[in-house]
Amino acid sequence: MTAETTAGQGGVEPSGPWTANVLTLFPEAFPGPLGFSLAGKGLERGLWSLEVLDIRDFARDKHRSVDDAPLGGGPGMVMRPDVVDAAIEAIVDRPGPLVYLTPRGRLLDQALVREFAAGPGLRLLCGRYEGVDQRVLDAREVLEVSVGDFVLSGGEMAALVLLDAVVRLLPGVMGNAESAAEESFEEGLLEHPLFTRPALWQGRQVPEVLLSGHHEKVRRWRRAQAEEVTRLRRPDLWRRYLESRESGEIDEG
Ligand code: ADE
Repeated sequence: MTAETTAGQGGVEPSGPWTANVLTLFPEAFPGPLGFSLAGKGLERGLWSLEVLDIRDFARDKHRSVDDAPLGGGPGMVMRPDVVDAAIEAIVDRPGPLVYLTPRGRLLDQALVREFAAGPGLRLLCGRYEGVDQRVLDAREVLEVSVGDFVLSGGEMAALVLLDAVVRLLPGVMGNAESAAEESFEEGLLEHPLFTRPALWQGRQVPEVLLSGHHEKVRRWRRAQAEEVTRLRRPDLWRRYLESRESGEIDEG
C-alpha cells in the first residue's frame, strides 16, 4: 500500500502521532491537566505527543531577558522578536500550523478544533506580559487564535484549553466515538440535558420518556430539548442552525 492510499483525504500519511510543540516561558504548566484522564492516557499510549520548549532558553544576553518596554510607551512589557523568532526557528520542521494564543485572534470554535485534529499537529506560541512584538508574528505567518472574549494572564491556559479540545477528537483517545458525535456543537446545537439514576432524587423525577426504552422517542425528545436550550441561550447559534436547516445541510430529524 502506498502512503497516498492510506492517508484518507489524498494527503501523505503523517510519519508519527499527532504532535503538539509548545513554546512558553512556563514549561512546567505542561502537560498540566492534560496529564490526567483520557488525554493523559492517550499521551502515555503514544496516541499523541507533546514537546515543550522554554522560550527563555533562546535569550542571548547575559540576563537572559525575553522582554522589553513597549515602544511608544504604555504599561507592561513586550516579548522580544529576536528571542521569540529563535524559539520558532527551533520548531520550523515540526508539523502543523503555528498558532499564537491571543485575545486578538480568531475565536476558537468546534469547527476549527476539528480542523486542527484532522491535521498532523500544532505548534503553539504562548505569550506573556502584554504580548509579542508584531514583527515576528508577521514574519512567521502566525495564525492568531483566541479561546474567548476575556483576557488571561498568558497563553498557557489557552493552549491547554485548545489542546484538550483537539486531543479528545484524535482517533483512539476517547473510548466512545458516539459521545463525540452527539455532544454540543456537533450539529450546531447545544447538548440536551443529561440524567442518570436514581430516577427519583429529592422529589425530582427524571423525564418519563427517558425510562420508556423507546429509542426513537428519546431521540426526538433530546433533539427538541437541544433546540430549545440553543434557542434560549444562544440566539447566535440558533440563527445559524435555522439557516443551515433551511439550506438542507441538516435534516430536521
Ligand atoms: N491570552 C490571553 N488571553 C487569551 C485568550 N482569551 N485567548 C487566547 N490567548 C490568550
